[in-house]
Amino acid sequence: MTTTDTRPHPGGFATLAGRSVARVGFGAMQLRWADADDEPVAVLRRAVELGVDHLDTAEFYGDGTVNRRIRAALAPYPEHLVLVTKVGATANPGGEIELRLAQRPEELRAEVEANLTTLGVDRLDVVNLRRADMPPGLIAEGDQVVDLDDQLAVLMGMRDEGTIGAIGLSNVSADQLRRALPAGIVCVQNAYSLVDRTTEPVLDLCREHGIARVPYFPLGSSWPGTPKVTDLPAVISVAERLGATPSQVGLAWLLAHAPETLLIPGTRSVAHLEENVAAGGLLLDAEAMAELS
Ligand SMILES: NC(=O)c1ccc[n+]([C@@H]2O[C@H](COP(=O)([O-])OP(=O)(O)OC[C@H]3O[C@@H](n4cnc5c(N)ncnc54)[C@H](OP(=O)(O)O)[C@@H]3O)[C@@H](O)[C@H]2O)c1
Repeated sequence: MTTTDTRPHPGGFATLAGRSVARVGFGAMQLRWADADDEPVAVLRRAVELGVDHLDTAEFYGDGTVNRRIRAALAPYPEHLVLVTKVGATANPGGEIELRLAQRPEELRAEVEANLTTLGVDRLDVVNLRRADMPPGLIAEGDQVVDLDDQLAVLMGMRDEGTIGAIGLSNVSADQLRRALPAGIVCVQNAYSLVDRTTEPVLDLCREHGIARVPYFPLGSSWPGTPKVTDLPAVISVAERLGATPSQVGLAWLLAHAPETLLIPGTRSVAHLEENVAAGGLLLDAEAMAELS
């Protein structure tokens, strides 16, 4: 951040891949489910207007649909925007589920190239390697069980070539992160929220090494039947006391819980987006933190 930077910065500034970003970013996966482009385009443009400068996406969100919507809404991209994508799966058109794993090194390279094309960029700011050793999601079997070092080698090669700015990891254990540290990991994207704190040891390691921690499913996900942060009695009671919404309390807790946390809540609604961005300004007092933690 420079002293002349007067942009809004929801949640304050943090560093991601050597760039200054607002701590409240945006996860674009939900934009997959809109029937037409208008709604996603409006959400993305409003996000940037509100100071969001960190977008999370993937080519396999609707076989390039989300990336194309990001490009339609925002290209030519603002200079300060940090585009983060992920590899490790690919679209599976006509399949029972719409994606399949793509963990092999040549598949990682192909997925990076597909992201470059649909986003319309020469370089991806950050690419997260999404591992598939543990839930949630598909678990690697057969030729999809690939050594982490082989995967990092291909990503480091692309970083040397300049098509990747920086490397992150997703869905990893503390041991895997420790092993990958020499590759220069800038962020870790694991599921984490008030309803699922199982990856806390990874957070500790991120803190120790100055790595950005980007929880996915920060509100508990959109998956039907899974626990939701907004249903927790403590969240509802703190929200009522502070005059905030339960979603805002869940997001503000993540920001307050660990300073290296960057948020990427997902929504296809402008109203929810505005609410989530405003969570960056919600201060939880000691009583609220105690009740939630
Ligand atoms: N690395 C990985 O493996 C991985 C996996 C999954 C997701 N991700 C990334 O993480 C991002 C966040 O995850 P997510 O979108 O699945 O889960 P999430 O942010 O925990 O929850 C999204 C759900 O919450 C709802 N929601 C959002 N804001 C709300 C608000 N203010 N009030 C009420 N409901 C609200 C959304 O519905 P509405 O659309 O109706 O608002 C949607 O159903 C994704 O967009 C994606 O970029 C990464």
